[in-house]
This record gives sequence, C-alpha cells and structure tokens, in this order.
Amino acid sequence: MQQNLSHNPDDRKEATVKPRDLLVLGIESSCDETAAAVISGRRICSNVIASQADLHRRYGGVVPEIASRVHLQAIIPVIDDALRQADVSLADIDVIAATCGPGLVGALLVGLTAAKGLALVTGKPLVGVQHIAGHMAANYLTDPQLEPPFLCLVVSGAHSHLVHVKDYARYQILARTRDDAAGEAFDKIARAIGLGYPGGPLLDKASQGGRTDALSLPRSHFADSLDFSFSGVKTAALNAYNRLKQQAERQSMSWQELLPLADFAASFQQALVDVLVEHTEQALAQTDLKRLTVAGGVAANACLRRSLQAMAERANVTLSCPPPVLCTDNAAMIAMAGSLAYRDGRVDDLSLNAVPYLDLDDETLSRSQN
Ligand code: KG4
Ligand code: ZN
Repeated sequence: MQQNLSHNPDDRKEATVKPRDLLVLGIESSCDETAAAVISGRRICSNVIASQADLHRRYGGVVPEIASRVHLQAIIPVIDDALRQADVSLADIDVIAATCGPGLVGALLVGLTAAKGLALVTGKPLVGVQHIAGHMAANYLTDPQLEPPFLCLVVSGAHSHLVHVKDYARYQILARTRDDAAGEAFDKIARAIGLGYPGGPLLDKASQGGRTDALSLPRSHFADSLDFSFSGVKTAALNAYNRLKQQAERQSMSWQELLPLADFAASFQQALVDVLVEHTEQALAQTDLKRLTVAGGVAANACLRRSLQAMAERANVTLSCPPPVLCTDNAAMIAMAGSLAYRDGRVDDLSLNAVPYLDLDDETLSRSQN
C-alpha cells in the first residue's frame, strides 16, 4: 500500500490538512475463530477468519482446550495473511488492536499475547478491545457516515443488550438478558432437536418456509424494564419437543412426521425475534433515537433482519445491518473499535491482561487485573 512518507514540508502541510487514515491491525481470538484484519479509516483492507467450527462440531460446542491450541497454530499465519492481503507490512501499521475480553481466557490469551509481542518488537501502540464494543463498531465499517448517537441491539452467543451509543466511546446499557442470551437459546434448541453446532445458522436455515405459529410459545417481558429473558421460551420449546418425541415413539414414527422440522424451527425463532424486536421498538420510543444498528452473531439471522426492517419502517427509523460476515466474530470490527479507542486517547501497556467476564461498562478492568 502506498503511503505518504515524504519529508517535503509542503507535503507535510497537505498531510496536516487531510491526514492519512489510521491503518489498524485487528486481532480476535475470543472463541472459536482466529481472525486478523487490516483497516484504513473505515475501509476494510483485509479480513481473514480461520473458523474452528468443524473441529468443535463433533463435541456439540466449543471445547476451550482445543480452541486455545488451534488458535496457537493459526494465529501467525492468519496475521501474515491479513497483512499480505492488505498489501501492507507491519512497519506500515499505526496501531495494533486485540480483543482482551470477554471470552474463553485461554483463547483470548493467544491473540492478545501475539498482539503484545508485535507491539513490543515494532514499538507500535497497543489497544485492548472489549469484544462487544468490537461487535458494535462493525456498524461504522458498514456505514461510513454513521455517527453516534444511535441505538444498538447486541445479540451474540453470550450477550443480549440494548445499548444507547451516546458517543464513540460512551455507552449506556438500557437492557440486558437476565438469563440466557439469544444466541445461547438458538444453540441449545438447535442442539436438542438434532441440528448440531453451530446452532444459530443451522436453525435459521431449517426454519425456511416453516409456519411461525405451529407451536404456542411464551414471550417474556418485565413490567418495569426492557431486559430480556429467554429461559422460559427455551424450556417451553424443550418441553414441546419432548412431548412430540414421546408421542411419536408411541406411534412408532419420527417426531418430524408429527410436526415438520421447519415449523418447529420457525415457531421457536419467531418467539425470540418477536421479543427482540418489541423491546428494540420500545427502546427507540423511550430514547427518541432515529438510528438503529445491530451487532453480534444473531444479527445474521434472516428473520430478525426482516422483522427489524419492517419495524424500522413503521417507526420511521433508519436501520443499518452489517453484512453477516461482520455480524459474526471477525477482526475488522476489533480493528475499528481499536481505532476509535486510540483516537479517544487510549493506549495500553504490556501489562494488559485477558479478562473472561469483561463487561461493556467496565472496559478498564483488563488494565487493573494482572
Ligand atoms: O457474536 P458471535 O459470533 O460470537 C459471540 O460473541 O458470542 O455470536 C455467535 C452466536 C451463536 O450463538 C450463533 O449460533 C449465533 O450467534 N448465530 C446465529 C446466526 N449466525 C450466528 N443465530 C441465529 N441465526 C443466525 N443466522
Ligand atoms: Zn462475538
């Protein structure tokens, strides 16, 4: 990549007026994806993701020990690939950003330690990124004009939040889940009905063409809060599945002859989506925000995206959804969040640690726990 490294004073003057976009290397290894990316400003130069899903599939979920070991094998080639595809060298990079939590601690440590090593040998600034802040930052890559304030519905494997993004580094969490996250509920039901791992995308696919009213499932709400609760709908779906199975066994048939898989999946998915959309609509009304974004793996769900779009049109709100590849774990989003944090004056030293339960509102924790 060509950069303006000229020492001509006239060029410097021009560079001050129109500064070169910050070139950031992002590294992500919080769960089962080893990822590295290079961004320039809000533009993605490369976005390399090595997924371990095939390795964990046979266990029905992520095995932390295996995840760490595979991250260790993949991290250097993945970073190399990201630099090569972006056509830059480490020397060109301005900032190195890496996820420092939340996530599997052994997995986090691989990416973070690689980032610390690179920062040490190159002397480049290091910025630790909270993973959910990373997911939300994917929206800045999706829509280069996007600016706070806006509302963000965060729906990942372990988090379901409604976040009022007040400024680039200032958030207010308006709602969170009191039990399971939306992704967790997708994964558990998908596993129970035999779809396997990773459950969310498989259930999304299986639901296509299914009836959304084939099962009567509860939608949980709280009188005084926009918080989420998905354990009730999960248990109700599990009970419905067990009843179908018992009835099918008595009649020596498969449960899917009693209720097509597509109908089961579509009904369960709709119950989750209804709650997510309704609470989002209420949060928009309460805050009077006119911009809505989504973040996290479940934001790749086709039914959720359609329903949010319909609601946004009703509520006269502008919705932007990152493409599915930027909803699930990737390092471009980490680079973007790192870039914003750096512009906000944040740089970490080599004592930065991985924190498995790092919340969005205590990002500083990773800097005080050694
Ligand atoms: O954000 P993410 O990639 O990782 C975490 O930070 O947790 O989210 C993973 C979650 C998993 O629960 C996965 O099943 C779910 O996102 N997911 C989906 C879809 N794609 C991924 N859930 C529903 N529909 C999808 N298309
Ligand atoms: Zn994630």
